[in-house]
Amino acid sequence: MNTLLPATSLKRLSKLSARLWDRHYVTAKLCSDPVYAAVTKELEGSLLPVLDIGCGIGLLAFYLRETGFKPDITGFDYDTRKIASAQGMTARGGYAGLSFMAGDARTGLPDFDGNVVILDILQFFTRAEQETLLRAAAARVAEGGKLIIRSCLEDDSTRFRITVAGDWFAKLTFWMKAAPVSYPDRELFESVLSAAGLKVRVQPLWGGTPFNNHLIVAERE
Ligand SMILES: C[S@@+](CC[C@H](N)C(=O)[O-])C[C@H]1O[C@@H](n2cnc3c(N)ncnc32)[C@H](O)[C@@H]1O
Repeated sequence: MNTLLPATSLKRLSKLSARLWDRHYVTAKLCSDPVYAAVTKELEGSLLPVLDIGCGIGLLAFYLRETGFKPDITGFDYDTRKIASAQGMTARGGYAGLSFMAGDARTGLPDFDGNVVILDILQFFTRAEQETLLRAAAARVAEGGKLIIRSCLEDDSTRFRITVAGDWFAKLTFWMKAAPVSYPDRELFESVLSAAGLKVRVQPLWGGTPFNNHLIVAERE
């Protein structure tokens, strides 16, 4: 188990999903993926709102609420089905301060000032689009806030090859609308985010998975 959530929270969240497939997905994903606990720890004590770019069905927002995180959370994703699912779960669960909006991160982000999160979407962007998105995300990090990213890093490891295969599987099973385009490397984060005035750290986030995922945390001090 990679989750900080008690069984009661997991059960509540699973029941909020309208579709049977989403119910299984919510439980399996929240129990197995180490990223939600890692982000929760990074945001501990922060009073700033959160913008979750590529929020999917809003799992991070619900996870944060269930762990007691109070500031507003905005989810942003171009998949309207996932946004509708997140909005439905919010209404059914009676969660306050959560909002979800549809939009393409390639063509602009909502106005925002706070903490920004980007989990598992950079591989769908070209290198130039990744740079543009990272600059736009960094510009939305408030003083004392963080930009928290989970991404596979491109290198010559077996982990990297397994991650690429997993992303293609998600595309071919229609879970993801897009196929992977380009994987960022460590240098991209260090150069772009340092130039934006943020202090950057990069650490592995494997958590018992076979993937080459890393947590990149960039802070505005
Ligand atoms: C692998 S999923 C991650 C979902 C979520 N971040 C999570 O960890 O549960 C990637 C998400 O990025 C979204 N996405 C991909 N390209 C996007 C874009 N250009 N603009 C907005 N969302 C995008 C997809 O719709 C999908 O929900």
